[in-house]
Amino acid sequence: MNMAPFLSEAQLQDWQRDGFLVIEGFLSPAECEEYKAHADQLVEFLKPEWQAAIFSTRNQAAASNQYFLDSGSQLSIFMEEEAPELPNKLGHALHDLDPKFNALCRKPEMAMIAQEIGFVHPLLLQTMFIFKHPGFGGEVKAHQDSTFLNTDPGSVVGFWIAMDAATKENACLWAVPGGHREALRSKMQRDGNGGVEFITLDERPLPQEGYVALEVPQGTLVLLHGLLPHKSEANRSEKSRYAFALHVIEGNAEYGPENWLQRPADMPLMGFQRMRC
Ligand code: FE2
Repeated sequence: MNMAPFLSEAQLQDWQRDGFLVIEGFLSPAECEEYKAHADQLVEFLKPEWQAAIFSTRNQAAASNQYFLDSGSQLSIFMEEEAPELPNKLGHALHDLDPKFNALCRKPEMAMIAQEIGFVHPLLLQTMFIFKHPGFGGEVKAHQDSTFLNTDPGSVVGFWIAMDAATKENACLWAVPGGHREALRSKMQRDGNGGVEFITLDERPLPQEGYVALEVPQGTLVLLHGLLPHKSEANRSEKSRYAFALHVIEGNAEYGPENWLQRPADMPLMGFQRMRC
């Protein structure tokens, strides 16, 4: 059966020109509220486990590092630095371990979009539910996602969904239109010593100017190219700015063992059809 494409020619041109694409109305407000409530429930479930993992040990820094490095194949919780009782995010295998987020990531429209922007064998690598709580949601400095999830050749694309309306007030995303033509500046990798390190690939700093605010209604999907410089400020408002992000890589590209996110042999990365393709 031939299905009509999800993205128009104009949208594909915008994506290629800007390195990001805003697709409003991807989820309904009611769907977003359901995902938010579900994420809040997961927090209550995971918090005691996190406390046990980190605080039961004498070396909390090493335990935190290990907890992070293990999270690529887990349902894990990360707390705000400024307010350790508040969640910063859930990650990083929600798409394979949580039925509700699995269903979200594997909506047929997600697979269609991935194919239409050029993926041949897409693999679902990482998922995050990001909380950005009122008053505390921490700043995310300008970065390129390929720094954290690196393939050769580069292929990572972020599928970012606004679970709340995102505005300048509650710390929406900011991105540099066309910035995906920038070279990758650095690569974060395992240091072989239980931690991670950053390898500089290009000394030039990321652009400091030219960012535009991606103010979007609740339920909007934003695609982000892996080389696109983007950031968000701390949320000092009284409104939450919940978001969900899925990162997809091309299965035909090489995903090296130095990447921080590694999956055990019995839990390989899978595609949108939940099969290794
Ligand atoms: Fe990012």
